Order: sequence, then structure tokens, then C-alpha cells
Amino acid sequence: MKDTSLLVSELVARYGNKRESLLPILQGVFDEQRYVSDEAMVEIARHLDISSAEVYGKATFYHFLSTKPLGKYVIRVCKTIVCDMKNKKEIVATLENLLKIKMGETTNNRKFSLLYTNCLGWCHKAPAMLVNDEVYTELTPDKVRDIVTMYKNK
Ligand code: FES
Repeated sequence: MKDTSLLVSELVARYGNKRESLLPILQGVFDEQRYVSDEAMVEIARHLDISSAEVYGKATFYHFLSTKPLGKYVIRVCKTIVCDMKNKKEIVATLENLLKIKMGETTNNRKFSLLYTNCLGWCHKAPAMLVNDEVYTELTPDKVRDIVTMYKNK
């Protein structure tokens, strides 16, 4: 993994050191390291001349960022009402069985994390989940098995 201080310097060089650069820089750190560490937050604050608390506030506000290490593939299962009524439970049980982790956890090899998310806007094709930025809909246990196998082999 790239040195955090070097990574932040590169991102600041790319996006600038203004306050509005904060989000793309956080995103860049997350993409590279799969989380935003305390060290990264302090470095970003220093470069942008803002408080670490402000950086922390932003890093914890957006669901696509995380201050805890996440896997390469972050699976977010919609927990909102339509998906809930359309067998979300079965989808979650299938994922937990396949990956041998519970919701909120990351596999030991740091390949997968399982999280809940709010409505993804695909209620008409529920149940739905995201794997990083990719949306998967009308899920069934079989479909979930195929999707996970595909990512396991990537
Ligand atoms: S309720 Fe799940 S996508 Fe809307």
C-alpha cells in the first residue's frame, strides 16, 4: 500500500488544497487504501489548513467513505422497506453463509465487506444490493451465489 503521506500529497497536487477539494481527496484515499485512517485525516487537515474534526465529519458523513478498513469489494444490501418485504433476509443469509462473516464485518483476506444501506432507488426491482458502484437487482440466493463467485474469482 502506498505511504499515506505521499498519497495525500499526490491527491492535493491533483485536486488542489482548497476546502472544496476535501471530498475528492477523501475519495482518493478511500479508493487506494479502502478506508480513511486517522493518519490520512490529519495529513489532509494539514494540507488544507482545516481542522481534523472537519475532515472527520466529512469522512463519516458519506456512506461511500469509511474510517474503518473495508474489503476490496464492499457489498451493500438495501435494508429499506420494499427490499425488506421482498426477502432481503434470505439474501443477507446467503451472503453471510457464502462469505462466512456477519453484516458489518470484513473477510480476513480483506476481499469483501458486508454492509447495509438505505434505499438504492431500485425498489421496483427489489431486492437490490451494490458491489462497490455496481447495482444488482431482483436478487435470489442463486443470483447472489453467482455474483459472489464472480467477484471471488476476480
Ligand atoms: S427499498 Fe430497496 S431499493 Fe428501494
